[in-house]
Amino acid sequence: MIVINNLNKSYNNVKILKNISLKVESGEIFSLLGPNGAGKTTIIRIINGLTKRDSGNIYIDNIDIFKSPQKGKSLIGLIPQSVNLDIDLSVEENLIIHGLLFSMKFKEIKSQIEELLKYVGMYEKRGEKVKNLSGGMRRRVLIARALLHKPKILFLDEPTVGLDPSIRRKIWWLVKKIQSKGTTIFLTTHYIEEAEFLSDRVGFIDNGEIIEINTPKNFIKRTGEWALDILETDREDFKTLFFKDKNEIQPFITDNFNKINIRRVNLEDVFVKLTGRKVKNA
Ligand SMILES: Nc1ncnc2c1ncn2[C@@H]1O[C@H](COP(=O)(O)OP(=O)(O)OP(=O)(O)O)[C@@H](O)[C@H]1O
Ligand SMILES: [Mg+2]
Repeated sequence: MIVINNLNKSYNNVKILKNISLKVESGEIFSLLGPNGAGKTTIIRIINGLTKRDSGNIYIDNIDIFKSPQKGKSLIGLIPQSVNLDIDLSVEENLIIHGLLFSMKFKEIKSQIEELLKYVGMYEKRGEKVKNLSGGMRRRVLIARALLHKPKILFLDEPTVGLDPSIRRKIWWLVKKIQSKGTTIFLTTHYIEEAEFLSDRVGFIDNGEIIEINTPKNFIKRTGEWALDILETDREDFKTLFFKDKNEIQPFITDNFNKINIRRVNLEDVFVKLTGRKVKNA
């Protein structure tokens, strides 16, 4: 379990994180969803000891990570937003170095590498230099590396950014598979579908503040399950109306429009309703 209490961070007197408090339950997939610059990576970096916080407490399985940083680190694995593998080394060499940094025995490193590279479908490429791998392959190596020392909690910072939709889906299934083996997962994303597909619970973050935490289902149910986008003749943007039932939509379709679109409500709609801003093109 992860508990964050009143976390604050400023850069150059600008508040980047404002009293962040949240709990992640053991075994769940928790997503922080928010636009560019919201503060997602900063939270992950503070938990992983890469950035200093100004104030606040973080506990992982009741261990105060600021009092016992080494103990805390052994419980967590990190997949960073930017790929930080050594591209001149092979896949296997990158993983060996990671294992040694975590003081693992060589025999254990070797057996973990074999198991995990098979798990992420990269075993055949174990001798290949990272610079010869595609973006999707590099992500899978990062996942294997993060799991090498058997962490209880995995942090994924924008796990599929810049990947093709088909490769993105493969990573999603891999993340689900990791969860099914008992690992707790904390991820950040600004992809709506990713948060919706993967998360047991989602925390909306905007401008350094947690707006609300809930299950995707509850967020969507409260907004209304159906959306009607109307492009009216005298407007340049869509107006969106929300409905609990698809049958309620018909009376709202008048003659005064250019285009309409009836669709399911998604987490983007929920975010816009809560903040007045979009997640995507912010
Ligand atoms: N080292 C730094 N020095 C100064 N400002 C920083 C630093 N790191 C981050 N920031 C600022 O902190 C804010 C939050 O950044 P952060 O990287 O946490 O956002 P994010 O939600 O991860 O965004 P993205 O979706 O683009 O990854 C941004 O305004 C960013 O410019
Ligand atoms: Mg980020």
